[in-house]
Amino acid sequence: MKNNANDFKAVTNTVINELSEYLTESQNGTIKTITQRSPEEIAEQMQLEKWLKEGGLDSQSATGFTQSYLANTQHIHHPHYIGHQVAVPHVASGIADLIHGVINNPMSIYEMGPAGATIERFLINWMLDMIGWFKGDRPSDFKFRKGNGGGILTHGGSVANLTAMCAARAAIAPDSWTQGTPNNLVVLASEEAHYSIARALSIMGMGQNSIIPVKVNELKVMQPEYLLETYQNAIDQGKKVMAVVANGCTTATGLYDPLEDIGRFCQEHGLWYHIDGAHGASALLSTKEKHFLKGIELADSVIWDAHKMLRTSSLCAAVLFKDFKTLGTTFQQKGSYLFHNKEDIGFDSLPYTLECTKAGLGTKLFWVLAAEGEKGLAQYIDDTYLNTRQFHDVINAHPDFSCPYFPESNILCFEYTKFGQNNEFQLAIRNELTKQGEFYITSTEMNGIRYLRLTVMNTLTKSNHIEALMNEIIKIAQLLKTTGINN
Ligand SMILES: Cc1ncc(COP(=O)(O)O)c(C=O)c1O
Repeated sequence: MKNNANDFKAVTNTVINELSEYLTESQNGTIKTITQRSPEEIAEQMQLEKWLKEGGLDSQSATGFTQSYLANTQHIHHPHYIGHQVAVPHVASGIADLIHGVINNPMSIYEMGPAGATIERFLINWMLDMIGWFKGDRPSDFKFRKGNGGGILTHGGSVANLTAMCAARAAIAPDSWTQGTPNNLVVLASEEAHYSIARALSIMGMGQNSIIPVKVNELKVMQPEYLLETYQNAIDQGKKVMAVVANGCTTATGLYDPLEDIGRFCQEHGLWYHIDGAHGASALLSTKEKHFLKGIELADSVIWDAHKMLRTSSLCAAVLFKDFKTLGTTFQQKGSYLFHNKEDIGFDSLPYTLECTKAGLGTKLFWVLAAEGEKGLAQYIDDTYLNTRQFHDVINAHPDFSCPYFPESNILCFEYTKFGQNNEFQLAIRNELTKQGEFYITSTEMNGIRYLRLTVMNTLTKSNHIEALMNEIIKIAQLLKTTGINN
């Protein structure tokens, strides 16, 4: 394959045919979600050594090459894929990936990707507007207005959380960029905060012990009535509270923290309020579901992953700030070849990002929006949230299963209870399911109890698929009971 337009057309035609078949098989459920093989088998099947040594991929050989790759993937478009919080991407997002792969416009310098840079600012305005932090009258109003929020797209929610923590530190300890982080800074965070918050604090030199956990209830929802006591204890020990971190919603259960109450507390005590909305902020699009995010406007920073519930392929996340000036204080690095005063047209986002080279992440989300419109995405949220509640009812109605809570989002935990409560047994069921490959689900622990966990990302997943999953679990449980879980 030469690096020219003719070969590009010939090979992509082959690949697109294979991908289309893959999509049809996955969506129709006529293939397993996953066939587990060892890395040695996959390397052999894909002939990795041969390609490395000989090269020579062309439109003929691309068929087998693509097939051997696709055969060893997780079939995320399959209605039985009910696993992690990874988007079942809209195919429009994949088209944007292809375009980016060919044009390669790292757009944090405007002149390196004017279209990508414009789309990013447009989408940031659109997201800010949903939180109530945008003062323009349309997302293509790019003027800096008093009272406007600001934001940036990042390669993932973990980077977005790190950026938000750096912003909180810049607010309370502006000299830390040059002098290092004061050793008495702490963060009050839900016991259920995503591990990327602890990682961020460790990276920032604060250590993960700088998190002071705020009590959660038995369903892992933060209890704001414990905030005052936790805050006071920290102050009494000479600590300075850099931020309060809440979940909208949590990873394990998909339940939302009481964001408004936590926000009022932060307002009262002048504390930076960060909401991790990586999964749950997308409910802002839905008139039916956005009540879970009541109070989000009280935050100082919010993160929001489009590659979870806005149907984009990985990665496309946003970190959003109530005050656009925060963008300028978060990273204070100077690079004279990049950060110069210039009179050129457009805007460079480079000073505001952790990344230097950054893909045109927004284009993926924009292609999805261009295909479905805001209403289409809102409908997707409505459907996945509603379906999950129906699946809860189906599972809970069965005498051999039980759910620990009624879902607020599209994440649902349940237990197979016929043989009593046994963590290892639940895990063995999940492992056997993955081995068989017909269904893909995950598991989580709450209060020492292991649950099976569904994240309903696919609107093709219906009640009949959940009933089929339950039947499979019953069969596996019977088998495990007879043969023992370690066999
Ligand atoms: C609540 C929450 N925050 C942050 C993250 C990290 O996001 P990412 O995987 O995009 O780095 C996740 C990922 O699952 C999450 O669930």
